Amino acid sequence: MIRAAIVGATGIVGQQFLVALKNHPWIQVTALAASERTAGQSYRKALTDPSSGALRWFCAEPPVEELMDMPVVNATELVTEQLDLVFSAIESGPAKTLEPKYAADVPVISTASAFRYEEDVPMLIPGVNTSHARLLDAQRKRRGWKGFITPIPNCTTCGLAITLKPLHETFGINSVIMTSLQAVSGAGRSPGVIGLDILDNVIPFIPGEEEKVQKETQKLLGQLNGDSIEAAPFSVSCTCTRVGVLEGHTETVFVSTRKPCDVPSAIEAMREFAVGDDIASLPSAPEHMILVNDDPFRPQPRLDRDNCGGMATTVGRVRTDSVLDNGIKYVLVSHNTRMGAAGGAVLVAEMLMRDGYIG
Ligand SMILES: NC(=O)c1ccc[n+]([C@@H]2O[C@H](COP(=O)([O-])OP(=O)(O)OC[C@H]3O[C@@H](n4cnc5c(N)ncnc54)[C@H](OP(=O)(O)O)[C@@H]3O)[C@@H](O)[C@H]2O)c1
Repeated sequence: MIRAAIVGATGIVGQQFLVALKNHPWIQVTALAASERTAGQSYRKALTDPSSGALRWFCAEPPVEELMDMPVVNATELVTEQLDLVFSAIESGPAKTLEPKYAADVPVISTASAFRYEEDVPMLIPGVNTSHARLLDAQRKRRGWKGFITPIPNCTTCGLAITLKPLHETFGINSVIMTSLQAVSGAGRSPGVIGLDILDNVIPFIPGEEEKVQKETQKLLGQLNGDSIEAAPFSVSCTCTRVGVLEGHTETVFVSTRKPCDVPSAIEAMREFAVGDDIASLPSAPEHMILVNDDPFRPQPRLDRDNCGGMATTVGRVRTDSVLDNGIKYVLVSHNTRMGAAGGAVLVAEMLMRDGYIG
C-alpha cells in the first residue's frame, strides 16, 4: 500500500478522489489538505456549511465514513515525509506554488492546469499516450526533484483526445472542430456557477477553456521526441459552452482526416480501440475506453456519463460531413469528474506505480 494525500479534498474533485480511492487495493489516503479556510477542522466539519449545518457532500456515493473525522491540514503545511504520492485538486493559482514544493519530495498527480504546458511535463491518459511518461525522467533530472508533477488534461480535452486517438492512428487527422456543452460541476464549487445563471440557460463562454482544449489535444496526441513532445500536426478549433447539466460533458466533433474515412471504418476504429492488456489489468481501468452507441438519440449525459463507472467515453451519431475534406462528425459524452478528473488521475497513479515511477 502506498500512502497518498488529497490536496483540495473538500472540493468537487477532491471528494471524487475520496470515492475513487475507497477500498483501493494499492493506495491508502493518509492525509487530507485544503485552504486555510477549512484547515484545522475535521473533514466532516470542513464540509459542513456553518450557517445551515448542511453537509456539502457532492458525490452520488455516500460520504467515506472512515475519513470523515480525519483532520484537514493547511495545504501550505502538508508534510511530505510520510507520503508516497500527492493528488492535487486545487485551482491553478495555488497549484503553481504548492505542487513544486511537494514534487521536490514526492510524485504529484494533478487535476490543475498550472504545469500542463511546460515542456518537461507530460499530461497522461493511460492507453492514449502512455509513452509520454518517460518525460518524467527528464523532468526529475532537470528540476532536481525526487518526485515529479504530472497533470491530467482538462476534463473537456479528455473525451475528445480519447476519441481522436484511434482516428488519428488509422486515418491521420487534418483538423478538428468541436463545440462543447459542459456540465455545471466542471466549474467546481468555489465560486462555481450560480444556479440562477445556468438554469434555463446556456452560457456561451468559459474563460480560457478553448485555448486549453486546443493546446492539450495537440500535446496529448503528439510524439515523444527525446526530452520533449512534438505537438500533433493538426489544427483544433472549438467553442466551449456551459449548460444546465450536473455532470458529463457533451461535445459535437467534426474531423477532417488525411486518408479517406467512411462511417463504418470510423466506428470500427473507435470500437476496436483498446487500451492494451498492460492498462486493462489496472484496478481503475474501464472495460471499454470508447463505447459507440448506434441509437441516434444517444449519447446523453444523464444516460451515458456513468458508463463503465464514468471511465468510458460514449460516442454516437457518427456521420459523414460533406463540408470538410474526408469529413466525419460525431457526438460524445465523457464524465468530467471521473475519467476527466479523479478517476483519470487514479488510473495514472496505478500506471505509474506499475511502471516503477511511484512507490
Ligand atoms: N470540476 C471538474 O469537473 C474538474 C475536472 C477536471 C479538472 N478540474 C480541476 O481540478 C481542480 C479542482 O476543481 P474543483 O472543481 O474540485 O474545485 P472546487 O470544488 O472549487 O474545490 C477547490 C478545492 O481547492 C481548495 N483550495 C482553494 N484555494 C486553495 C489554496 N489557496 N490552497 C489550498 N487549497 C485550496 C478548496 O479548499 P477549501 O474548501 O478550503 O476552500 C477546495 O478543496 C481545479 O484546478 C479544476 O480546474 C476540475
